[in-house]
Order: sequence, then structure tokens, then C-alpha cells
Amino acid sequence: MSLIKNRAAVGPLHCHISLRANGKTLSSVDEMVKALRPEEPLHCVRPEVISNTAAAFRATFNGKVLYAVKCNPEPAVLRAVWDGGVRHFDCASISEVQLVRRLFPGAEIHFMHPVKARSAIREAWMLHGVRDFVLDTGSELTKIMQELEQQAGKPGLFIRLRLPEMGAAINLSQKFGAEPEAAISLLHAARSLTDKLGVAFHVGSQCLDPAAWRDAMQLAGEVIRASGVRVDVLDIGGGFPIAYPDMSPPPLGTFMAEIDAAYNVLQMPWLKLWAEPGRALVGSGASVVVQVQMRRGNMLYINDGVYGTLADAGTLRFRFPTRLLRTRHSRGAPDTAFGFFGPSCDSLDVMHGPFLLPDDVTEGDWIEIGQLGAYGTCLRTAFNGFDRGTLVEVSDGAMLETAGYELPKGRAPAVVKLPTRM
Ligand SMILES: Cc1ncc(COP(=O)(O)O)c(C=O)c1O
Repeated sequence: MSLIKNRAAVGPLHCHISLRANGKTLSSVDEMVKALRPEEPLHCVRPEVISNTAAAFRATFNGKVLYAVKCNPEPAVLRAVWDGGVRHFDCASISEVQLVRRLFPGAEIHFMHPVKARSAIREAWMLHGVRDFVLDTGSELTKIMQELEQQAGKPGLFIRLRLPEMGAAINLSQKFGAEPEAAISLLHAARSLTDKLGVAFHVGSQCLDPAAWRDAMQLAGEVIRASGVRVDVLDIGGGFPIAYPDMSPPPLGTFMAEIDAAYNVLQMPWLKLWAEPGRALVGSGASVVVQVQMRRGNMLYINDGVYGTLADAGTLRFRFPTRLLRTRHSRGAPDTAFGFFGPSCDSLDVMHGPFLLPDDVTEGDWIEIGQLGAYGTCLRTAFNGFDRGTLVEVSDGAMLETAGYELPKGRAPAVVKLPTRM
């Protein structure tokens, strides 16, 4: 009984920061698999890929970069983002705020969820030094001001603007954002309450069209102008895409050129730009190694699925890059299209892919599934008890490169220290 009561909702990942075998520190996915022969999902974080990508994004974007913690809050990932020079964190819950503060006493944390618990607002301000809050309704503005009434200083207030459908893989404007008229009223109401007034938007996650930011910035500019008040910050959100086997985004520089051009059109030189990338910074920085438990035709029954790390392969039908790893001899069979079934008893636990693998793949083989650094491990559930797994840090490169995320010329790669366990 007490065991059940004390059980965490999702089993924590068993973390190996560094592993040795035969007197050698293991540093690649292949070495790890050979040594561990994992029968549960093996989450392989690539700190160097993450810190270099974060450094590249910071060097390309003309503004402040906030990492969207929600897309991967693993401490190893957060440390790699920090090593890439990111000092600002977009948090959506008090647990994320607590985690970031515990890891980085010097971080600047911004509370960017438009609907917050009263206790979360108070704790964020009083215990964790959070000063910026996003909102999209008058009632949330009232809530924030009531909770901070007794506190010295004014909060930074960001009005989240609703956008029309921008063609992203995941539309984030159905749930949040004030319509332009409402946003204008909120800007009026908030101006006298704050010394830092912002407008924020999100074009949707995995948005392949740079023009989406241009259109959104134009709309934000119209709202700001119509409000007649001075706005200090424009937060252009996340949504920057990475490559998947069937998605090749234009280079990051194309997005930034569009953003710079839209900024110049606004003619508000005092306006500071912020961005909240999640996927773009960490998506290429982790993979998961799964084991094949059974093959039925071209469907492989694997030990991770839509209730685990692979939610987006199911619900969103994302195709992820795959690579077969086996410790026995391979005859170099040609690639074939496979689908996956996850480990749960639910028939919705299916990922159609197609995922390309050698056609002799069989029970006991391992498959590395890449580009799972964002919205992978953080979506795991304990459904059917399949919530165990191990996290290791490896020095392999990304399984798929995304154009423009290379380190700027002449810049030394981030130094990746072996981090201490939390
Ligand atoms: C407010 C906010 N900012 C940033 C992000 C990160 O988005 P992405 O991972 O697409 O960059 C999200 C994702 O849901 C979000 O809701």
C-alpha cells in the first residue's frame, strides 16, 4: 500500500553520466548498446550537439533567447543549453521554475504560461525571483496584480496575441492568445502597471515557413500602433523547425532575415526582440534506442511507443530517422518501410512511419530513433507500467543535420564538461 502511495507518476530515468567498460569511457551510442544490451528504452542525450546548436541560435538571432523548458526539462539537457550560453528560461509551471532555479541560481526565469495558479505566481515571485508573466485575458491580469499587490516592484507583463493558422505542424493559437481588439485593451490596462510591457505570440511548433514570423510581427505591430501605448518587448515565441526525414526547413538564416526585415518595417527601434525556441535548440540533441520484441510482417513490436517517448510518431505521424544497431553480423540487407507497435495493450499505440530499416530486422535487434530531443522523454507516461528507461550522455553527432544550426565560423565549440548529477 505504502509502495503504491509513494510511487512517482512516471518512473524516473536511471541516469548514467559516464559509463566505463574494459577500462574505457563509453562515448557513443553503439558502445553503450554493446555494453548495456538495453531491454528498456535507452535515452541518448548529445550535450555537445545541444550546446553548439544553442550557441548557433544565439549568434544568429538579434535578441534575447529564452529556452522553452517544457520541450525537454532533463537536467542533462538544461545544462547543455546553459553551456551553449543561454541564461533565460521560459517556464510554464512552478515545477519547471523550481527545477531551473535549483540548477542555475543565476538564471533569469520568465513565466510564459497565460493561465497560472495563484500560488504559482506568488511562489515564482517570492522564492525564485521571477519577474515576467504572460497573460491573454483581463482576469489573468487581475489575478497577477492581486497576488503581487503586497510585493515591492512591478511585474513585467506580456500580452499573448492570438494568431491565425500559420501552417505549423502544431497550431498553438487555438488555445491561447487575445484577439487583436482584446490585446489592444489589455495593453492599455497593463501599461500603467508595469515598467516592462511586452507583446508575445507563437506561430505554432515546427513551422517551416519563415513568412509566418513576418506576418505575425506585422499583426503585432498593428496592434501596438492601434493601442497607442509604448511597448518595450516583442517576444516572437518558438516554432523554429528542425529537419525530419520528410521535412527540410530552409536554413535558420532565412528565418532570421525575415524577422530582421519585419523588425525594420515596424520602425520601433526601442522595441527589444525575444524568442522562446524549444525544439530548435534541443530537438537534434537526443535519440532513443528501442529493442524489437517481435516482428509480424512489416510491423515491429518495440519497447517504446506513443505513451512513452514516441507520442509524436503516433498522434502527429512524425517520421523520425532510424538506424539499426545489432551486435551480431549483418548481411547488409536493403532498406524496407516498417511501422511500429508500442509496448502497451492499446491498439492506438501504433506508429505508421514509414521507418526505413534493413529488411532482415528481427527480434532482439536495437533501433536508434533520432531527432527526439524535443517532446520525447518529457511526454512519457506510466501507462501499462512501461515507464522505465535509462539516460546516457553520448558524444555522437545529430542523426539529421538542420541547415543553419552549425556554429558560426571562427567560434570554438562549446566545452562540454561531464556534469555532476543533480
Ligand atoms: C509559449 C511557448 N513558447 C515556446 C514554446 C516552444 O515551442 P517550440 O518547441 O516549437 O520552439 C512553446 C511550445 O509549446 C510554447 O507554448
